[in-house]
Amino acid sequence: MQTITKKNKLILSKKKMRTLLIMLIFFAPLILSTFTGVRTDLTRAGSNQKLNTTELIHHAMIRDKFRHTNLYSNSPSITSPVRKDSSFGEYLMTLSIGTPALKYPAIADTGSDLIWTQCQPCKSCFEQSTTFYDPSKSSTVGIIPCNSHTYLNLCTGNYPPPLCNCTYNYTYGTGWTSGTLDTEKFTFNQVQIPNITFGCSTSSDKRYFSGSSGLVGLGRGPLSLISQLGATKFSYRLTSFFDIKSTSPLFIGPVATLPGNGMKSTSFVNNRNHYYLSLKGISIGNMALLIPSSSFALKSDGSGGFIIDSGTTYTSLQIEAYRQVRKAISSLVKNLPTTVGQFDLCYQLQSGMPPPSLPNMVLHFNGADMELPDSNYMIMDGNLWCLAMTASGNLMSILGNYQQQNKHILYDVANEMLSFMSALCDKL
Ligand SMILES: *[C@@H]1O[C@H](CO)[C@@H](O)[C@H](O)[C@H]1NC(C)=O
Ligand SMILES: *[C@@H]1O[C@H](CO)[C@@H](O)[C@H](O)[C@H]1NC(C)=O
Ligand SMILES: *[C@@H]1O[C@H](CO)[C@@H](O)[C@H](O)[C@H]1NC(C)=O
Ligand SMILES: *[C@@H]1O[C@H](CO)[C@@H](O)[C@H](O)[C@H]1NC(C)=O
Repeated sequence: MQTITKKNKLILSKKKMRTLLIMLIFFAPLILSTFTGVRTDLTRAGSNQKLNTTELIHHAMIRDKFRHTNLYSNSPSITSPVRKDSSFGEYLMTLSIGTPALKYPAIADTGSDLIWTQCQPCKSCFEQSTTFYDPSKSSTVGIIPCNSHTYLNLCTGNYPPPLCNCTYNYTYGTGWTSGTLDTEKFTFNQVQIPNITFGCSTSSDKRYFSGSSGLVGLGRGPLSLISQLGATKFSYRLTSFFDIKSTSPLFIGPVATLPGNGMKSTSFVNNRNHYYLSLKGISIGNMALLIPSSSFALKSDGSGGFIIDSGTTYTSLQIEAYRQVRKAISSLVKNLPTTVGQFDLCYQLQSGMPPPSLPNMVLHFNGADMELPDSNYMIMDGNLWCLAMTASGNLMSILGNYQQQNKHILYDVANEMLSFMSALCDKL
């Protein structure tokens, strides 16, 4: 009898749960304050193209080439998002926008805030694989006046309010998007969220964003998806760089948690423009590198610092730190000839020969060590074996997504902490 009662209770509660779930999904727009979170899958940019290894590396590299030529001449800007250029090293999130909902793939970017997609009527747009969003065909689009106090810094307009709409031009250092700032209903895995502010982009710098249909800012500012959802945290597990077919889950809201033991945490530096981390030093195996403590410090003028970014592929390090890493690798790899490759340090392997194994590189964050196996800092390009990092001059250093592969990473926005642990993401 008891077991039956228990079973009945269980069934009842399951039914209740299902009803609750259906209500949640159905009434999601009305209960935004209790946003329970979404899971969505990230795909790799370029997964629909037939690219070989060299091309894959090259596309992701173009951005870093641009960065190199620009970094030394540009004065550091405190508020500008991380530079974005065309590449297939990025992870795409599928968003559904408007009514009827239209899906589009957008670069998931923790290094900037604005959410945007290309819009009709397009003045200067790049090719995209999906239909362009057309505000005149959606019943849920809303306009933002140019004198909107919320977005005063971003909005301009040619007419006096209330006649004018908010037009914007958002720059990424080497790329930009321009159009009107609108509001729309977004749908994530059946969860509908009304009134998300986004950029309806009618022109952009075509060179930089191909392979996507826009960008989803996951940064710390008020315009980011995270801030607009009021999400207290989000997490992702990025699959291996060369595995362009598998998807990487992204969790936003309370559903974002790291399983099991072995999780490490470090606080974000108290600067709301980016997810700055306090990096104290780097070691390779038991070799502590001689890196000045000032190398990764965020200066009072906004230059320097070390950030984590899902929208950058290869980690770039302040020049002195980069030199020390390069020197350490050179001292560990003795019997291979160096050669010119897509990166600054490359070794020539004989055909079919596997690379030697190297010890883990450890990033010593304040209170947490992040271990990078050699597959997270060396990269195979045909018969070339290269250090998959670049030098950033004296500007901001960036932890790129190549170095984040096969890790669970949790951005605890409410508590200003980054937590991480290793995971074989391809197997999950
Ligand atoms: C503002 O946007 C609305 C809706 O798209 C449009 O009807 C109106 O003409 C726009 N105003 C101006 C001044 O462009
Ligand atoms: C947006 O700003 C960039 C960088 O300042 C500029 O090159 C571009 O022409 C601007 N676009 C528009 C449409 O004004
Ligand atoms: C939508 O959001 C904007 C900006 O946050 C706000 O001003 C506006 O009142 C909201 N509209 C609705 C219908 O909730
Ligand atoms: C990749 O394709 C390019 C042509 O786009 C070719 O030149 C190169 O040799 C190929 N590399 C490999 C490793 O197959």
